[in-house]
Amino acid sequence: MSSPVVLILGAGPRVGASVADKFATDGYKVALASRKGTGSLNEQGYLSLKADFTNPESIPALFDAAKAEFKATPNVVIYNAAALTPPPDQGSVLSIGASSVASDLNVNTVSPYAAAQQAVAAWDTLPGEIKKTFIYTGNILNKVVLPVPLMQNLGIGKSASAYWIGLADTLYAAKGYRFFYADERHEDGKIKAAQLDGPTHAEFYAELVKHEGKVPWNATFVKGKGYVQF
Ligand SMILES: NC(=O)c1ccc[n+]([C@@H]2O[C@H](COP(=O)([O-])OP(=O)(O)OC[C@H]3O[C@@H](n4cnc5c(N)ncnc54)[C@H](OP(=O)(O)O)[C@@H]3O)[C@@H](O)[C@H]2O)c1
Repeated sequence: MSSPVVLILGAGPRVGASVADKFATDGYKVALASRKGTGSLNEQGYLSLKADFTNPESIPALFDAAKAEFKATPNVVIYNAAALTPPPDQGSVLSIGASSVASDLNVNTVSPYAAAQQAVAAWDTLPGEIKKTFIYTGNILNKVVLPVPLMQNLGIGKSASAYWIGLADTLYAAKGYRFFYADERHEDGKIKAAQLDGPTHAEFYAELVKHEGKVPWNATFVKGKGYVQF
């Protein structure tokens, strides 16, 4: 049987790099996509692809490229990119332009949605025994409205994405496809924010793809503990 393939959309130095290394160690072929992608294999053997998720139409080509390189379709898809825009008028959150709201929504919600569409189409062609998983890197903003203007576009996108991810996880359950909104928290349930931990994401995501235990789609997790319900 060929190696499993993970496609990581939005792969930078923190979560993306840790997740890529963990999955490679676990025997996966790794494809990464971000604006800095090169279109070739990097020194670790990861396929580095160039994409800008402000444009959801850039998504299908990434699946095609990963499949062409590894001769297998990605059975794990991780969406990690995010976008926000500060308000030009600090005192007025609604001074953020509508075009910025739309562009950030493309990165936070529409492109991952397009990726999930590609994933499902690809998974329908894979044998049943291969586990299929979509993981979206989230945060607390689908649950909590923080009174911080800078967080507006991020919160809009995370909330919207949580909805379709929950729906997809529920409605594709019969096919065994899992969709997770993964949200790292502090032990007390508070937002991780700048203390976000790449290796903790990697450990947790490597567990999620095994489909063991009863982790719900809204997968809140804590360093050293795994899934914790808040
Ligand atoms: N749980 C929490 O409290 C918490 C805290 C912080 C962050 N987070 C979440 O963690 C995720 C990312 O974390 P991170 O920054 O550590 O990850 P990362 O893997 O270090 O970086 C993500 C990468 O996504 C790429 N990206 C951004 N916008 C893109 C676009 N428009 N098109 C293509 N690629 C794009 C960037 O690479 P290029 O520059 O090469 O495009 C960036 O380096 C986000 O979803 C964020 O919301 C959660």
